[in-house]
Order: sequence, then C-alpha cells, then structure tokens
Amino acid sequence: MTNTMVKVTVFLLVVLGIYLWIGYSITELTGGERTASAAVDVSPEGGEAIYWGKGRCFTCHSVGGQGSAVRGPNHGQFGEKFPLPMGARAAERAKERAEKTGEEFTAVDYIVESLSDPGAYVVKGYKNEMAVVYAPPISLNLNEIKAVVAYMMSLGGDLDMAAIDTEPGELTAGFYGKIAAAAAAGGGDPVAGQLVFEDNCLDCHVVAGEGGEGGEIGPDLSATAKKGLKFIAESILQPGKKITKGFETFVLVDKEGRKVVGLKSRDEGGEVDITKANGEVVTVAKAEIKEITQDSTQSLMPDDLSEAMTVKDYQDVLSFMMLQKGQ
Ligand code: HEC
Ligand code: HEC
Repeated sequence: MTNTMVKVTVFLLVVLGIYLWIGYSITELTGGERTASAAVDVSPEGGEAIYWGKGRCFTCHSVGGQGSAVRGPNHGQFGEKFPLPMGARAAERAKERAEKTGEEFTAVDYIVESLSDPGAYVVKGYKNEMAVVYAPPISLNLNEIKAVVAYMMSLGGDLDMAAIDTEPGELTAGFYGKIAAAAAAGGGDPVAGQLVFEDNCLDCHVVAGEGGEGGEIGPDLSATAKKGLKFIAESILQPGKKITKGFETFVLVDKEGRKVVGLKSRDEGGEVDITKANGEVVTVAKAEIKEITQDSTQSLMPDDLSEAMTVKDYQDVLSFMMLQKGQ
C-alpha cells in the first residue's frame, strides 16, 4: 500500500469512529435508560465515595487533614484560612448573598451552584479553574452530584436530604435541570457550548432575544430543546434534509441572468426581497425577474458546520441547545 492510501484509510477509520460514537451517544440518550445512574446512593457516604473516587475532587481539594491537594479550597476546617468546614461555610456564604441581593439563597443552593456553574462565584484567592464535573472526562450524573452535595453539607452543615434530593428549592432545581440536560446531551458542557454557539451560529439565529445580527436568517432557537436532541443533531449535521417552514431557500434569476440565493423575506407590491446567507438583502422588481424557484434540497444553513467544529464543540453546542426551553 502506498503512503497516501494508508493515510486515507486511517482518516476514514477516524471519521467512521466519530460517527459511530455520535450515533451511539444519540441513541443512548433518546432510547435507552441510563441504568448505571441508579448505582450511587444519594447520601453523604455515597458522596464521600464519589469525592475520593470517580468525581476526582481530591485532585484539587482536601478535607481538613485528609488529602494533600491545594489547587482548590480545603473543604474541611483547616488552619486560619479555613475556620469553617464546607457545610457551615456554605451557610455563611449563602447568608451573605441573600442579604446582598434580598433574594432567598440557601447553603444547598451555594454548593449546587459551585458545581453546576463554577464561574458564578469564584472563591477569593483562587482561579476560576474548578472542573465542570458533569462534563467529560469526569461526567458525574445528577444522582452522583446530589450525593456529593450531601457529603459537602454533612461537613458541619445542616444536612437536609429533602432539600438536596426530593424537594429541592427553585434555584437548586434549576441547576439540577441544567446538569440533567448536559448529561442527556452526552455529557457536553453547555457553558463551553454557548461560546461555540456565539462563534458559529449567532449570526443567523436568535437565542433568548440575542443574536441574529445577520438579520434573522434562521429560526429563533429560544425554545428548540422541545424538538429533541435527535432533531437538533440532524439540523446541524444535515440542514438540507428537513427545511423549517418559512425558511425555504429561493433561487431568483433576473432578466440579465444574475442569480440570487436566499430567503424570500418580502413579497409585496412590485418587489421581492431576497435575504442572502450573509444577511445582505437584495431587492428585485418583479418586472425584472426571469424566474424564481424554491430549492427544497439546499438549506441556507451551511452543511459543513460540523467540519469546522471538534467533536467536543459539537457535543457542547448540543447540550447548550438542550437548555433552550423558552420561557
Ligand atoms: C481541577 C481542579 C478541581 C476539581 C477536580 C474540583 N474542584 Fe472544586 N474548586 C476548584 C477551585 C480552583 C475552586 C475555587 C474557585 C471557584 O470558586 O470556582 C473550587 C471551588 C469549589 C467549591 C466552593 C468552595 C468554597 O470554599 O466556597 C466547592 C463546594 C467545590 N469546589 C466542590 C468540588 C467537588 C465536590 C468536586 C468533585 C466532584 C470538585 N470541587 C472538583 C478546583 C477543583
Ligand atoms: C448562515 C446562517 C446559519 C448559520 C451560521 C447557522 N444556521 Fe441553523 N439554520 C439556518 C436556517 C436558514 C435554518 C432554516 C432552514 C433549515 O431548516 O435548514 C436553520 C435551522 C436550524 C435548526 C432547526 C430549527 C427548527 O426549529 O426547525 C437548528 C436546530 C439550527 N439551525 C441550529 C444551528 C446551530 C447549532 C448552528 C451553529 C453550529 C447554526 N444553526 C448555524 C441558518 C443558519
């Protein structure tokens, strides 16, 4: 075999592997139950096992004299720097926050926020480098996270299992929703996914009132989660396969043979507006049109977006899409 053939073969195998993997992750999410998630006991003991094991918390944190990592704050009572263990510390931080904002905020909210959105509050003296523990490679599921929260609260706090597990408050329930969505999207990281979206999608799509700078070329995606992961994945990988109503591609040829491709964004009086993929609007007088046809195979959304993204970007943007649940 020649060198080139070897290279091509290797490349094809890699691509095939990626597709199998994406396909696997999608079927797993849409079809199968996640049996493994039932394994962990939502209790301080279950959380302790995760903390010193699968959760890899011990690689950055210690608990009092247990462990030696110092990249993140100590979770126990330790020296002058850490006068309170984590459960009590969370209660104190939560109280400060509630007083400052005038809104209810509990110790459980504080810990769950630390895990679900680590950048929201960065402990003084530390960098914003807390791991996103529900994204790869750690990929804790929701029950494992609840268990870890119970462990943290058991360190000097008021352990209320109902507030952690079965009857979470509104804020915590919101964070749990985010974690569950991330896990359901194959463990993508929605925080990173938002950046991928801003770089690759925001020119054409509005999400939660933002974006669409190019002039709303694509549909508003603020409530796209309800269409399901499979639909969203296909929309990104093969946009032309199923074109959203009202966003069909038109090909207009004028009498001088000039061709414009885009959405028919206005059709009134004697004129037609065509909005091109880059947002440019071309107005053509009807008297000048030679023919205007709809192309039902080609979307204005590029079909090579997945090539510009890494597999991780793709997973991340999918999980960001799964969070867009509208109002
Ligand atoms: C890659 C290192 C790293 C890993 C892994 C990590 N953390 Fe952290 N964590 C940090 C850093 C750094 C901070 C401080 C900055 C911040 O607040 O985001 C922090 C902050 C925290 C806080 C807030 C602490 C306080 O004093 O208010 C909690 C709670 C927490 N982590 C829990 C966990 C748990 C539970 C795990 C495992 C499931 C974990 N962390 C895994 C680095 C890490
Ligand atoms: C050049 C403009 C453009 C870009 C860039 C673009 N899209 Fe689109 N998108 C469209 C258009 C036009 C449609 C409607 C036609 C269709 O269904 O293909 C669409 C449709 C969609 C749909 C289906 C919406 C529905 O409810 O039917 C989803 C989901 C979507 N895009 C996601 C994305 C994501 C994620 C990205 C970035 C990775 C992206 N798009 C980038 C133009 C764009």
